[in-house]
Amino acid sequence: MSDLEGKVAIVTGATGGIGKDIVARLAEQKIILVLAARRQDALEELAYALKDKTRVLALKCDVTERSDLEALVEKTLSEFSNIDILINAAGVSSQYPFWEQPLDDIEKVMRTNYYSYVMLSRLVVEQMKRKNRGHIVNITSGSVMVEPPPRNFIVYTSLKVALRAFAKGLFWEMRDFGIKVTSIFPGVTRTPLTGKLKNISEERLMEPEAVADAVLFALKQPENTCPLELAVINQKTPWTKPVIPFKQEHPREEKLRIKN
Ligand SMILES: NC(=O)c1ccc[n+]([C@@H]2O[C@H](COP(=O)([O-])OP(=O)(O)OC[C@H]3O[C@@H](n4cnc5c(N)ncnc54)[C@H](OP(=O)(O)O)[C@@H]3O)[C@@H](O)[C@H]2O)c1
Repeated sequence: MSDLEGKVAIVTGATGGIGKDIVARLAEQKIILVLAARRQDALEELAYALKDKTRVLALKCDVTERSDLEALVEKTLSEFSNIDILINAAGVSSQYPFWEQPLDDIEKVMRTNYYSYVMLSRLVVEQMKRKNRGHIVNITSGSVMVEPPPRNFIVYTSLKVALRAFAKGLFWEMRDFGIKVTSIFPGVTRTPLTGKLKNISEERLMEPEAVADAVLFALKQPENTCPLELAVINQKTPWTKPVIPFKQEHPREEKLRIKN
């Protein structure tokens, strides 16, 4: 029997490329799973596929909505009386020259990729503090290691940098209450999220299983050990040309030069 058997984990973005592989790994350990995402059909399909491995509760949740986050935590506690693990893996990407980025898109990225991670952490941490144990794992991004944030990704990347800072601070603040915090920095991974991006070099994509393995590694460490940050990045040039070229073209630069 694994030490993780019977623990209760909330996983946001459970239906996504990375989230699905994480829940598959956790189900193998017989961790009780609360799957959260917006698409009910995808959630139900996933819950059905996992039902013979562990107990699963699928909850429709828009992580950008505070009331949905509160309901997610309340329903988990009323069903299982406990939250041992929170995996924040919901996310959206966004690739725009900043001056063209729609305001709605900026708001969506902020609320999905930062706001929801902080709010859910706040919502679970009280209960974890009372129990003197818990583990929060954030799927952050390898792009936090790129300085300056890559052109056309500055909102996405700077929020991930903020998330990294938040998680480190949270660890130092909560460590004496037995709470662990881990940030995972994946490189560019083969998921529906990267499928929407331009300039992605197919053959260099990492597989999401590598990210899920890093999550499991973090969860399996002894009680007095916390992997604070784990970077699992592409073997070949993750953010430099040709995956996301440093010297990205600004569509209007040519025109501007001709005018001048
Ligand atoms: N793929 C990469 O190359 C890569 C690299 C570094 C970091 N990451 C990070 O890894 C995380 C997962 O990315 P991924 O590649 O697995 O993306 P993905 O395949 O597009 O999956 C995104 C997941 O987030 C959920 N989601 C999106 N908006 C939501 C919302 N408002 N409320 C609830 N759930 C929402 C989606 O489910 P529904 O659509 O059903 O809501 C889906 O389960 C993100 O934080 C991303 O920034 C990814």
